[in-house]
Amino acid sequence: MFERLDKLPPDPILGLMAAFRADADTQKVDLGVGVYRNEHGETPVLDAVRRGEQAVLSRQKTKSYVGPAGNLEFNQAMERLTLGDDHPVLATQRVRTIQATGGCGALRLGAELLRAAAPDTIIYASTPTWANHVPLLTGAGIKLERYPYYDPETGGVQIDAMLSYLDRLPPRAVVLLHASCHNPTGADLNPAQWREVLGVVKKRELIPYIDMAYQGLGDGVVEDALAPRQFAAELPEALIAVSCSKNFGLYRERTGALHVLNPTPVTAEAVLSQLVRIARTIYSMPPDHGAAIVQAILADAALTASWRSELDEMRNRINTLRRETVAQLAKACPQRDFSFIERQRGMFSYLGVTSEQVKKLRTQQHIYMMDDSRVNIAGLRSETIPYFAKAVAQVL
Ligand SMILES: Cc1ncc(COP(=O)(O)O)c(C=O)c1O
Repeated sequence: MFERLDKLPPDPILGLMAAFRADADTQKVDLGVGVYRNEHGETPVLDAVRRGEQAVLSRQKTKSYVGPAGNLEFNQAMERLTLGDDHPVLATQRVRTIQATGGCGALRLGAELLRAAAPDTIIYASTPTWANHVPLLTGAGIKLERYPYYDPETGGVQIDAMLSYLDRLPPRAVVLLHASCHNPTGADLNPAQWREVLGVVKKRELIPYIDMAYQGLGDGVVEDALAPRQFAAELPEALIAVSCSKNFGLYRERTGALHVLNPTPVTAEAVLSQLVRIARTIYSMPPDHGAAIVQAILADAALTASWRSELDEMRNRINTLRRETVAQLAKACPQRDFSFIERQRGMFSYLGVTSEQVKKLRTQQHIYMMDDSRVNIAGLRSETIPYFAKAVAQVL
């Protein structure tokens, strides 16, 4: 049986990680893998997470199953985190949430739900989008197409092209939107542009599928959730996939959720029953630990405050690095404008160099980034930025 299978090429990011590990140079810089790093280059366990985890372990009396929808208190806490404590839709019984194995698991559950509702659904994603969106969504048997998004000339969003593309879509076309910290470009919609997108979504009766993997890492917990909050207030239907990997630093605990907004409570019950069925047919039940930690944090005012201040620190660090990078690049390469990096948000930006130059940066300067020039800004440190900027100047 298995002799029929071909060996697949390794994921490009794994190759990049291996090459970085094998590089003996002491100045090497890893801007590849998409995890947050502090000023020591580490991805530490947050203090609030450690304390939440201790609370979970001391309270836990059983390892019995939690159920296919996961930890219901976690699900409710995530609804309030995503939508805000007093969001009017929370009182209407129209939102249903299922715990998921990270943002990836949430994205896949949503795609499976769409297929169950309408197998011929097409999801429209930005050009470019996070590479994993493609297998996660098409793996559920859903077709994926692209709308124009990133403008390499400005480092911003081609809003007119995006809006006019969306304005031609048929009703019930699903539009995948990054709530904030667009991966891989860092180019986000501003509040006025979100309004315009919401206008077209309403007019064409489109269904937004919002991927929020970086709440709190762009401009703030409230600011980054503008789209889910505004869309949920004004639309009958929406899907929102959320992840606790980055903002709680819970990557390996696989913690996330899918919120589905429905036109009525009756539909909401049907949707939840379908989500539970989908979970049962794939993995039965999600892991408990990460969700229990998040729930312990969000149920305790002191722990929540401590988490929020650690999250503020991560966000401020990223935005400071963005400023410092632009300043150093302006010094090292005055002929080229890199100011877009400071206008962008989240961990990622396209540096905007060719794949040849990316290769040179790797082999000659020991700086590792994705072939498409996506850099993880959080992989930089104040001390390495001047080296990085000079290295870029050398390959331009
Ligand atoms: C755009 C986007 N969506 C979703 C995710 C989900 O990540 P996870 O499954 O680790 O929570 C990520 C993580 O890198 C992401 O960048």
